[in-house]
Amino acid sequence: MSRTVVLEAESGSITWRAPSNIALVKYWGKREVQCPANPSLSFTLSKAATTTSLKYENRPSDGISPTFEVLLDGKPEEGFRPKIQTFFERARPYLPFLKDYHFIIETSNSFPHSSGIASSASGMAALALCLTDLERQASPGMEDAYFKKKASFLARLGSGSASRSIQGPLVQFGKYAGIPESSDLYAVPYPYKMHPVFEGMKDAILLVDKGEKQVSSTAGHNLMKGHPFAQARYSQAVSNLDTLKPVFAAGDLDGFVRVVESEALVLHAMMMSSLPYYVLMKPNTLGIIQRVWDYRHSEQVPLCFTLDAGANVHLLYPRDDSAQVERFIEEALVDYCFEGQYICDQIGFGAKKM
Ligand code: PMV
Repeated sequence: MSRTVVLEAESGSITWRAPSNIALVKYWGKREVQCPANPSLSFTLSKAATTTSLKYENRPSDGISPTFEVLLDGKPEEGFRPKIQTFFERARPYLPFLKDYHFIIETSNSFPHSSGIASSASGMAALALCLTDLERQASPGMEDAYFKKKASFLARLGSGSASRSIQGPLVQFGKYAGIPESSDLYAVPYPYKMHPVFEGMKDAILLVDKGEKQVSSTAGHNLMKGHPFAQARYSQAVSNLDTLKPVFAAGDLDGFVRVVESEALVLHAMMMSSLPYYVLMKPNTLGIIQRVWDYRHSEQVPLCFTLDAGANVHLLYPRDDSAQVERFIEEALVDYCFEGQYICDQIGFGAKKM
């Protein structure tokens, strides 16, 4: 993923919009540097996204890292600096021109920053795309396939799940024998058949808690080292990927619900059985889960939930059921949401240059 590139661009600006994604099979546990302990699979989202403009200026220096400023919604955001600094340090060997530049990174999210929706996947993907695009200026022959792979590779160095936010609609990250082209270094589009019932699948993100997480995902991944159930969990992720292949091909929604909900609960079970142990779900998370189960049982609608490393709940349902499910959300679930807030999103097709 490293090329000798001599950049001549003096100054300019590049803008990319990258979507968020929601994992169906969860990535939890990692090895150096930013390689997943198990393979994962996600739906790319459509509306929940980060737009980042990278303003660059060639400023030759003796330094080894680029200098940069970072703005969120037009205002300096010092809180983002450490993550971006670490990202630049990891990316340096693969983007040797970095040190010659000063960057102004202007970023904004389509969802409120304090909503508890993780912006690191979409944010790191958007930044990685801008930098790969800057590299492409010196290598105009760079093929699209290489461009996407490199952007995903770099995004991974910022946040593992960000590697899955370059393309869509279904994306695989981490080496998995069932997909020969898969890799621990970057994500690839899911190469197998997806039944039309999954096309346009909806994701309603119910905002349960907007507070800062007590335990970051980095800390959570680290707690999988020496975790008593780690090996069983990693094997389970692989077997869930095996199970999903015929589920996707046949449009087996019952099979889909079973794997997706189990994955969400196992992710949180890993947190609850880490040392130190912790719980990120809130009472309203469990309230929503119970209501979803009751509703699915009584209405026979294939509505299911999944969870990130947080208290918010993602509800997944086929497009054809959206009127009914969205009525149910309004009538029964908004009271569980922080200030009644939720975001209706759907499967998307990946990042776009603006
Ligand atoms: O990309 P990270 O390091 O924030 O880890 C993401 C972990 C989960 O969101 C919980 C699961 C996943 O696969 O996205």
